[in-house]
Amino acid sequence: MATVTVPEEKKIDSTPAAPEESKPKTITLRISRSNPSENLETKFDEFKVPVQKWTTVLEAILYVKSNLDHSVAVRYSCRQASCGSCGMKINGKPRLACYTKISELDSNVITIEPMNNFPIIRDLAVNFDQLISTHKKMKPYIINEESEVQPGTKEFIQTPKDLEKFLQFSYCIKCGLCNSACPTMATDESFIGPQGLAQAYRYTADNRDQGKKDRLKIVDQSHGIWRCHFAGSCSNVCPKGVDPAMAIQLLRGYLLGFRK
Ligand code: SF4
Ligand code: FES
Repeated sequence: MATVTVPEEKKIDSTPAAPEESKPKTITLRISRSNPSENLETKFDEFKVPVQKWTTVLEAILYVKSNLDHSVAVRYSCRQASCGSCGMKINGKPRLACYTKISELDSNVITIEPMNNFPIIRDLAVNFDQLISTHKKMKPYIINEESEVQPGTKEFIQTPKDLEKFLQFSYCIKCGLCNSACPTMATDESFIGPQGLAQAYRYTADNRDQGKKDRLKIVDQSHGIWRCHFAGSCSNVCPKGVDPAMAIQLLRGYLLGFRK
């Protein structure tokens, strides 16, 4: 009688792989120091900071504040790319400090400066007054005479297609990175800017809104929508995937009669 050999069951090692070791290293953090109220020249202070592969730029700054120089001025809050407070120029590019890992910058020297196109309060902290007041001027809310509670529906009906028209623009956290990257803002400080124009589009494109006429009047002025030269740098730096350059083109479509 033939003997049948049953192959031994292949053993599968289900033990999870150990996490890859992160070797700590030391980087040089160059921080721009300035205080316009004391009229001192801007200088860079250098600090040696130990980092792991997951250390963010914000954590490196907070290490400096806790251990080396508590006087560095920086604004932050959520530490999770939600509040929009920690925008700054990191190795020349506007980024959120809490959302930028040192390891992704691929350099042992990290230079951090305040965002361009904003007045400096001190060191890395800039003044957001103009961004906030421009945002408010765009009427960033639904304008509709009727109550949301309608007989039989209790809400305004909005299809997924209606939502798609503005959804990405509602992700804006008002961090100002787009305004700081904008070449028009660099030459015209009264320009509405990509952040404000994207928000004007966000509410105008919402099918529950009836404020289109008001908003188009606000953006169609000398420091308004026509000053945009479509450089596109705003969209390149947005950490939330908002495309202000596209919003500006879509908003122009309303003014030129391509869109209703
Ligand atoms: S559009 Fe993007 S970059 Fe500009 S303020 Fe909003 S989140 Fe920040
Ligand atoms: S701390 Fe809130 S976005 Fe960075």
